[in-house]
Amino acid sequence: MACAFYNLDCKVFMVKCSYEQKPFRREIMRTYGAQVTPSPSSSSAVGRKILAEFPDTPGSLGCAVSEAVEAAVTNEGYRYVLGSVLNQVLLHQSIIGLETKAALDKYGIKPDVIIGCAGGGSNLGGLIAPFAGEKLRGEADYRLVAVEPASCPSFTRGKFAYDFCDTGRICPLAKMYTLGSSFMPASTHAGGLRYHGMNPVLSQLYHDGLLEAVAVTQNDVFKAATEFARVEGILPAPESSHAIRVAIDEALRCKRTGKAETIVFGLTGTGYFDMVAYGKFNDGTLSEAPLTDADIEKGFAAMPQI
Ligand SMILES: Cc1ncc(COP(=O)(O)O)c(C=O)c1O
Repeated sequence: MACAFYNLDCKVFMVKCSYEQKPFRREIMRTYGAQVTPSPSSSSAVGRKILAEFPDTPGSLGCAVSEAVEAAVTNEGYRYVLGSVLNQVLLHQSIIGLETKAALDKYGIKPDVIIGCAGGGSNLGGLIAPFAGEKLRGEADYRLVAVEPASCPSFTRGKFAYDFCDTGRICPLAKMYTLGSSFMPASTHAGGLRYHGMNPVLSQLYHDGLLEAVAVTQNDVFKAATEFARVEGILPAPESSHAIRVAIDEALRCKRTGKAETIVFGLTGTGYFDMVAYGKFNDGTLSEAPLTDADIEKGFAAMPQI
């Protein structure tokens, strides 16, 4: 989802597959007065260009960013506010890590593993920020783990290179792990994680071996989400459930090895807008979208040669 706004007038470009999969999220935004358009759309020049190249695309965050930026620069008084990816967004999100650290310090707990889901990287970057600082200064050691969908594996199968932050190629380049700005992820139910690139600071940490990354498939994610809901009474968002999957796997590892460790993970959102996806999982009809090397090579081939 990406938005351009002017005072209370807000134009939202909602990734087409999320527009269809998350109708209640769409209606909440409309109730508060936003104009919500499924992206890519024919309402913008960049949307028309993307549709000409990929007529059947379910959309991606990269497409929605292009359309919202165009809306902001072509409508008098409108502004575009970035929700993830670039480094300044990590700065605001660091409140998550600062509060987590303050809570742990209050009880004298030092975590061993810190886990977050990774779409553009903002919640993970914010969660690990104070811990990564200590790690970089040699004051403490933590395992920092990014969890991404196997259908959009920017870290685990991407390249560390300069690339466009949006599919329409109207935004600046960033050096990041990327699958290529033309990469179109399958329409899995982790809408907020369907982004081709990754925040540059996190990309550098991963490149330097200070951050680990794991890719997980959506049925395994929903298994973890269901177990978490039943044990904790909290219905997690599919995106957050990527982190829950790996937190459970790490806890099972501790159980096997008999090693007591403290595992922290970020719970980024509620699943109440994602009941279509939960319904499919409950019916056993949630499909996987295996990604071939040829699909990935196609995204790399269209990247700028720098
Ligand atoms: C619930 C939820 N969690 C996580 C994310 C991932 O975004 P980021 O990697 O930028 O934190 C999103 C993105 O839309 C989301 O909706």
